[in-house]
Amino acid sequence: MEIKVLNISDYEKVFDFYNAQIEALERKEFFYPYVNSDLKNLLDFGGIMLGAFDDGKLIGLSAIDYDQTYSGILKRLVNSYYFHVEDDIPVFEYSGVMTDKNYRKLGIASMLYQSLLKIAKKNICLCAVVQLENQASLTFFFKRDFRLVCVKKDFGIDFGYLIKFTDRKMQVLESSSQYINCLDYSAYDKLLKQGFVGIEFEDNKVKMCKIK
Ligand SMILES: CC(C)(COP(=O)(O)OP(=O)(O)OC[C@H]1O[C@@H](n2cnc3c(N)ncnc32)[C@H](O)[C@@H]1OP(=O)(O)O)[C@@H](O)C(=O)NCCC(=O)NCCS
Repeated sequence: MEIKVLNISDYEKVFDFYNAQIEALERKEFFYPYVNSDLKNLLDFGGIMLGAFDDGKLIGLSAIDYDQTYSGILKRLVNSYYFHVEDDIPVFEYSGVMTDKNYRKLGIASMLYQSLLKIAKKNICLCAVVQLENQASLTFFFKRDFRLVCVKKDFGIDFGYLIKFTDRKMQVLESSSQYINCLDYSAYDKLLKQGFVGIEFEDNKVKMCKIK
């Protein structure tokens, strides 16, 4: 297995990979596809995209998107319930996470994540935008200390916004834990405003704890 930094010359390969993998998803809304111009911008030094290859075959992708406009939108969203991200820390999307359906649960997304963090900008806040029933993705990010800080229904899809600072861990009070249904917007509304964050996902329930 080899991990490579991709660029605009890989556009067709990346585009075809996402289309084929989205087609194979049971729940297509679990992966919100890039607009073509955003994907081109990302591959043309507007971010970093890494590809995992098995004997030359593309089997996984992950990226960090440095687009400034989107960064501003994300920052407003992640601070909309409770103030989490200071003015001088930019928020960038951890995006495009997809592993070939025949290579899942083999640690591919984890390896891409570790490699991306090593070459990412320092002192930033990463934000993953995940459908609220997407068990694989939510578990993946929660296990890496991402915290769910915002929920929003857009285009009919239930999106959760999970953040992680690259230079510090968001500590929580375990004693404050409460479990809520992953689509219970009124529970989110009440708890997120009080500084609770989501930290775990199991059986369509999210464990919410207050940040310290
Ligand atoms: C989410 C996804 C990228 C994970 O990729 P992967 O290469 O299979 O992930 P890994 O093997 O590196 O697993 C890493 C962690 O994710 C978690 N995970 C992966 N699949 C899971 C599943 N089906 N259920 C629960 N947890 C899962 C595991 O907890 C694993 O934990 P570990 O680090 O303790 O082993 C993959 O399932 C996928 O491509 N899904 C479809 C596209 C998608 O939903 N993308 C996310 C959009 S936000």
